[in-house]
Amino acid sequence: MEDAVFTLRGFSLIPLITGLIIFAPFCSLAAGASGISLPAPSHKGTLTVEEALKARRTHRSFKPRSLTLKQFSQILWGAYGVTAKSSGYDLKTAPSAGALYPIDIYAVVGQAGVDTLRPGVYHYCPENHSIECTKERDLRAAVAKHSLRQMWMAKAPVILVITGKYARCCVKYGRRGVTYTHIEAGHVGQNVFLQAEAIGLKAGIVGAFNNEQIIKTLGIPAEHDPLLMMPVGFPD
Ligand SMILES: Cc1cc2nc3c(=O)[nH]c(=O)nc-3n(C[C@H](O)[C@H](O)[C@H](O)COP(=O)(O)O)c2cc1C
Repeated sequence: MEDAVFTLRGFSLIPLITGLIIFAPFCSLAAGASGISLPAPSHKGTLTVEEALKARRTHRSFKPRSLTLKQFSQILWGAYGVTAKSSGYDLKTAPSAGALYPIDIYAVVGQAGVDTLRPGVYHYCPENHSIECTKERDLRAAVAKHSLRQMWMAKAPVILVITGKYARCCVKYGRRGVTYTHIEAGHVGQNVFLQAEAIGLKAGIVGAFNNEQIIKTLGIPAEHDPLLMMPVGFPD
């Protein structure tokens, strides 16, 4: 019966329905009048994958230097950008169980963190490679405070917050969808590390934080569970 309801000519409709219900409101915001289009990402680099893997380290010390919008764009695309379409669905730089993509990325941009962007919280919309400002204020210090006072985080021009919306995955996989969402956050994290290396930036990774306080501070939807934070910037 489930197959009859959700499958058309052997093609699962669950991702489409889930996507429409869960993604549409946020992405229409990002694509709307206040959405900011990002520069097109580059698909060529000068570092090999092996070199990036060898160089990757958790960085905890950053120069007070702004990222360009192009660098910021590249990091977001590398993290979770769209790379292909399959039967009308977007596929991204990170794998996803059932292509349900439960991850959302927010960027906490500091004062002069990114050229041309005001400090604030920005939601990344991979579908049209754009960002939407959801809060205007430099919240890096507050984020660091709620991360067991790891104040080094606040020196990075940008802190990425990788969140998971379990419902997107659990609708198909039940409780296992929670595990899949956590696994997928890890994929996105490694993407950020490698993309940062490839363009001469460094990233850190933080799992020690108070989820409720981070949600409250950033004003993000309560169902977008913060899973990882990644400060990104120039090495000190
Ligand atoms: C899930 C996870 C959570 C982590 N949380 C923190 C953290 O809260 N603070 C921190 O300084 N490093 C954190 N790290 C970084 C680890 O300490 C680091 O990966 C480890 O020491 C190995 O060093 P490397 O990443 O430079 O190879 C975390 C790493 C992972 C994978």
